[in-house]
Amino acid sequence: MLILSAIVAAYLLGSVPFAMIAAKLFGLADPRTFGSGNPGATNVLRTGNKKAALFTLIGDALKGWVAVFVAQQAGLSPLAVGLVALAVFFGHLFPVFLGFKGGKGVATAAGVLLALDPLLGLAVLATWLLVAYVSRYSSLAALIAAVSAPLYMVLLHGADGHFAVIMAIALALIAKHWPNLQRLMAGQESKIGSKKKA
Ligand code: G3P
Repeated sequence: MLILSAIVAAYLLGSVPFAMIAAKLFGLADPRTFGSGNPGATNVLRTGNKKAALFTLIGDALKGWVAVFVAQQAGLSPLAVGLVALAVFFGHLFPVFLGFKGGKGVATAAGVLLALDPLLGLAVLATWLLVAYVSRYSSLAALIAAVSAPLYMVLLHGADGHFAVIMAIALALIAKHWPNLQRLMAGQESKIGSKKKA
């Protein structure tokens, strides 16, 4: 019962759309109506409002981190913690509060990874930052970070523990970035900080 409650609570927390909250708080348009249409920090940044984008990034990352951290502190088994991690991540992707049409999960995955395995989380975060800095493409950084996460895990610990959880998150993240991948290959992806298109 405790495990089921934790999974439901994590899903509901993951469903909280910080991009939409940021839009309301900062008086911006609904992020689903411009740019990539994604309710996420990268798209909020296309409004030019850096504070709103930072708020979105921190909120979406923090909910992933909090869900996993609380599950760990409550003494749940590794399997239950893994299920909580999946619930908060998929809550962000398929949020009950937005008709199950949510974001792409990059910030929430980062929060989840940092709580599940801080060293792995930092390695993946560093990879995202490096690719984003060099290429200026948030989506390319996310795709490479997603591929790197299971690889780093095998290098650091072998394919044990939460490997299946990390693989599932990485695959879902890549699937959600499919339109970005097509735009990248067509040379049509917008760079970080480029302004919104209707
Ligand atoms: O965090 C999502 C990012 O990787 C891509 O966002 O808005 O360019 O689809 P966007």
